[in-house]
Amino acid sequence: MRALINFLGIMLVVLLIGSAISVAQENSGQRLTGYVPRLSDLMVVIQIRHSKLFYAVKRGNWPLADFELEQLTSTLKEAGTYYPKTVPSSDLTGSTEIKNAIAEAIKAKDEAKFDQSFAQLTAECNRCHEAADRAFIFIRRPAFPSTFSNQLYGPRPTEQQKRGH
Ligand code: HEC
Repeated sequence: MRALINFLGIMLVVLLIGSAISVAQENSGQRLTGYVPRLSDLMVVIQIRHSKLFYAVKRGNWPLADFELEQLTSTLKEAGTYYPKTVPSSDLTGSTEIKNAIAEAIKAKDEAKFDQSFAQLTAECNRCHEAADRAFIFIRRPAFPSTFSNQLYGPRPTEQQKRGH
């Protein structure tokens, strides 16, 4: 009898481990290879990382800044892979130079240099939005400590207002 109970106990453990493994496989995305994220969803992720990159630099967390830069550029690349027509890779090559400039500024812990290349990156976001007939999505340097303050929610500023900033 005791042997039978032991045997059943072992079987139960084996079954539980087996189902835990299959759940892990599911969660790892192995079965989700057909999933294609929507471009606007990727963009919201890019928006968050654009802000995080900025605040990491402003708070002097250079390793975090470096990390966020990698994350940001890899999500941009992903957008190019999934949506080559809307996000042509030719548009992204311009950003590679900007990426390198930002990476150098982070390495040198040079905030002024970072500010300069971050402004170029932000202009690049808006250049593509304009080209894609999405000029109403206007990205800016984060204006107050919130992840979403890097977007202007009011009407787009005039050329004159933009220069004034
Ligand atoms: C090469 C083209 C391109 C570049 C570069 C680009 N975007 Fe976009 N972005 C788009 C397009 C196209 C849309 C509109 C997607 C749609 O209509 O579904 C968009 C939409 C967005 C949205 C709106 C998402 C929403 O659902 O509210 C945000 C925010 C955004 N982009 C942020 C950024 C930021 C920040 C950058 C720069 C770091 C950037 N984008 C760079 C093409 C681009």
